[in-house]
Amino acid sequence: MAIGYALGVQYSPLPVCGSGRVRTQCRQRRGVVSMSVQKTSKKASLAAEKLLHEFREASATPLPLLHQVSDAMVHEMYAGLSSDGGSDQLKMLPTYVENLPSGKEKGLFYAVDLGGTNFRVLRVQLGGKTGEILSQEFKEVAIPPELMVGTGKDLFDFIAGTLASFVDTEDDSLKSHSGEVRESGFAFSFPVRQTSVKSGIVIHWTKGFKVDDAVGKDIVKQFQDAISRSGHQITISALVNDTVGTLAGGRFNFEEETMIGCIIGTGTNACYVERADTVQKWEHPLPKSGEMVINMEWGNFRSPLLPRTFADEIVDRNSVNPGDQWFEKMISGMYLGEIVRHVLARMAEEAKLFGGYVPVKLLEPLTLGTPQVSKMHADTSPDLQVVAKVLKDVYGVETTTLEERKIVHDVCDIMGERGGRLAAAGLYGILKKIGRTGKAENGSKKKTVIAMDGGLFEHHEPYRTYMESALQELMGSDAAYEVALRLQNDGSGIGAALLAASHSQFT
Ligand code: BGC
Repeated sequence: MAIGYALGVQYSPLPVCGSGRVRTQCRQRRGVVSMSVQKTSKKASLAAEKLLHEFREASATPLPLLHQVSDAMVHEMYAGLSSDGGSDQLKMLPTYVENLPSGKEKGLFYAVDLGGTNFRVLRVQLGGKTGEILSQEFKEVAIPPELMVGTGKDLFDFIAGTLASFVDTEDDSLKSHSGEVRESGFAFSFPVRQTSVKSGIVIHWTKGFKVDDAVGKDIVKQFQDAISRSGHQITISALVNDTVGTLAGGRFNFEEETMIGCIIGTGTNACYVERADTVQKWEHPLPKSGEMVINMEWGNFRSPLLPRTFADEIVDRNSVNPGDQWFEKMISGMYLGEIVRHVLARMAEEAKLFGGYVPVKLLEPLTLGTPQVSKMHADTSPDLQVVAKVLKDVYGVETTTLEERKIVHDVCDIMGERGGRLAAAGLYGILKKIGRTGKAENGSKKKTVIAMDGGLFEHHEPYRTYMESALQELMGSDAAYEVALRLQNDGSGIGAALLAASHSQFT
């Protein structure tokens, strides 16, 4: 079997290595560098280079492929807008957000942001002018892992309790306009079929959450009941996906036209402003604004065009939702570390990367985090010292050659490049759908802003650079629109508070 084939999705894991590997490992641990080990490592690097080459090919995202991927995305968008279940990939969920913040929002609002392993509670005082936030405080809390796979009641009691104790720290000077009752937005970053701007049914969980008894029920009611149990008076005025919060925050902050909100963090997703009359499945009167924000849930895009490798297959198989969220598993932060680990483990076992030493921990799931991959990828030192340090700290690989470190760096680079470029193809698909691509007439360009948030986009600079340049490549040099990716920091939380303000029950 050709190696390229082996690196594609047909790979089956190797049997556990035998005593040969252990012997080499022991020798190296004692610091004895014998001739045989040196010879092995020479051969190893050739084999590793070969695997690397094949892995690069399997993950490649040349421009024509990106165009095809974005066309496939557009195709699924149309299908998803036509009827519920019209696309088995993109849910294209109407959000009931017909008006984005105008900038005139004013007063004290809270927000709860639940979307990953941490959640945040926020308090913001809006000033009434574009981008004016008079004060802002937040508290971030890690979700105990058992609550991520437990019952809805336990999860929401925990969240409501944290919100309630945060409300208790409110300064007297921050008078709420509604007396004792506080209003809060709820950024809930999982697929939800909304039934109004402040209610919606959980479709399923992603990103490692699996709270089965909450599925099929109104998420706001579950949260609101938990708030009542806490004895506090807090009303949830808006339920928003984190992408929608990010889009709302973008509209509030940036003067240019913000049309898309996109998250690339633990998970990934995008929403955008659609012409309401094109949403065929919408059965209610058309909104006065003529527009509607659509939550695509693009993480579940599963085009066969996506360049998947053996590592993607294993990661998918071992996840809590096998077969789902392919796009998310290829481009977002929750999975990047694990994909890189599988590739390195295979290289260590099959091609004797690290001279035949296979660190036991490298074979253990989830031992390489995306932040460590980001760090290694961003290493620009001539001798790749950061890569060396991560390999030593995480896997106890005491010594590595520059050649080996380059291979590790390249694996991180290949994955970062693939993720950034595929994300750009997704965004280009949306721009195409809303008519913001094509060539400029008379050389004049209009501007479109994409509000971005998420740890991977914010902190993984090489990924962001790949994404930006792929988007430019896709748009072309004579494009009618200049597209800017703008970081809308803490987009989801602030955006949820803003949408609570614009849907306030008290103003
Ligand atoms: C969820 C989306 C969310 C995205 C980013 C995905 O796993 O399904 O609703 O917007 O993560 O947080």
